[in-house]
Amino acid sequence: MKLLVTGGAGFIGSNFILYWIKNHPDDKIVNLDKLTYAGNLENLKEIEKNQNYSFVRGDICDAKTVNNAMQEIDFVVHFAAESHVDRSIAEPATFVMTNVIGTQVLLDSAVKNNVKRFHHVSTDEVFGSLELNNSNKFNERTNYNPRSPYSASKAGSDYLVRAYFSTYGLPITVTNCSNNFGPYQFPEKIISLAITNILENKKIPIYGDGLYVRDWLYVEDHCRAIEAVLQKGKIGEAYCVGGLTEDINNLEIAKKIIKILGKDESYIEFVKDRPGHDRRYAVDWSKIKNELGWQPLYSLDEWLEKTVKWYTENESWWKAVKTGEYQRYYEKQYGRN
Ligand code: NAD
Ligand code: DAU
Repeated sequence: MKLLVTGGAGFIGSNFILYWIKNHPDDKIVNLDKLTYAGNLENLKEIEKNQNYSFVRGDICDAKTVNNAMQEIDFVVHFAAESHVDRSIAEPATFVMTNVIGTQVLLDSAVKNNVKRFHHVSTDEVFGSLELNNSNKFNERTNYNPRSPYSASKAGSDYLVRAYFSTYGLPITVTNCSNNFGPYQFPEKIISLAITNILENKKIPIYGDGLYVRDWLYVEDHCRAIEAVLQKGKIGEAYCVGGLTEDINNLEIAKKIIKILGKDESYIEFVKDRPGHDRRYAVDWSKIKNELGWQPLYSLDEWLEKTVKWYTENESWWKAVKTGEYQRYYEKQYGRN
C-alpha cells in the first residue's frame, strides 16, 4: 500500500510516519510538507534513508505539486494545516488558505486519482465550547460551533471533505480528536511550552484564571486511532478521539508538570487571556471504542511522565526550535521574558 501523508514533518504527522513505518514496514509513504515554522525534518531523521519513505517539499494549495504527489496513492492521510489558535487570532488569512483551500485542492486531486481513502485529521474544536462543571461531552452528533479562526477553518475543511463524499463519492473518513501531547510538539502549545520553559528556568504563562479544561490525548494513542479508522472505519463516517482524562484544567496540568520536574509553583505566571477562549472541551470516544475496538493505552499521568522525560532527554531538538522566528513570536505573544 502507498500512503500520501500531508504535513508529515509536523508534530502529529511525524509521529504518525514513525509509527506507521515501524508497524507497517512494507508500505510506502510519501510525505508532502511545505516546511512552515512548524515543519521539522529532524523529527524524521531515523527514517529519512528508508527506501519506502520519500519527502516532497510543497504546498497543498499548489494543484500541480499535489497532483504529482498523488500518483499511485492508495490512502491519503491529511494532517497539513496551520494548527495554533493564538496564531490564527493574529493572522487568520493563512489558516483559511491552507486549511480550507489546501484541503479542497487535495480533495480534487484525490477524486481525479481515484484514491481508495481520504482520511481527514480534524479537531474537537469545531464543536465549540462546553460549560464548566457539567457532564456534557462532544460526540459525533454534536453540532458544529467553531469560535476561533483556526476552528472555523477546520470546520470549513470538514464540511468540504463530507461534501466530496456526498457529491463525488470520494471514500472519506474523518477523526475529530482532542488536544495531543508528546514528543516533537512545537513548543507553542501549552504542554511542550510549559515543560521547555521550566527546563530553561522560565515561567509558564497561564491565560486568564487557568480554569480552562482540555481533553488530553497522547500522540501515539492518536496514531493508533487513525490506524484503526484506516483499517476498520466505515466510509463516510467521522470518529471522535479523546484521552483518559476527566476535566483537568490548565492550572492542574501546569502543577503536574512542575511536580514531575521537582520545581515549585512560583513557575506559574498568570497572563492576559486569549480572546474568545473556549472554556471546556470533553470528548466522548465511545463510538471508536465500541465499533473499532480502540482506546487509549495509558493514563494522562503515565503519558505526561514519559513526555517530560522525552523533552528532558532531547534538549537539542527543542533548543534548536526555540530560536529565530520562535523568539519573535514569543515576544509578540507574551511580551519580553
Ligand atoms: P503542526 O502545526 O505541528 O504541523 C503542521 C504541519 O503542516 C507542518 O509540518 C507544516 O509545515 C505543514 N504545513 C502547514 N501548511 C502547509 C501547506 N500549505 N502545505 C503543506 N504543508 C503544510 O500541527 P499538528 O499539531 O501536528 O496537527 C496536525 C493536524 O492535526 C492538523 O490538521 C490539526 O488541525 C490537527 N489536530 C491537531 C491537534 C493537536 O493537539 N496538535 C488536535 C486535533 C487536531
Ligand atoms: O482541541 C484540539 C486542539 O488543541 C487542536 O485542534 C489545535 O491544533 C491545538 O493547538 C490545540 O488547541 P488549544 O488552543 O486547546 O491548545 P493550546 O496548547 O494552545 O492551549 C491549551 C490550553 O492552554 C488552552 O486553554 C489555552 C491555554 N494556554 C495556552 C498557551 C499557549 C495557556 O494558558 N497559556 C499558553 O501560553
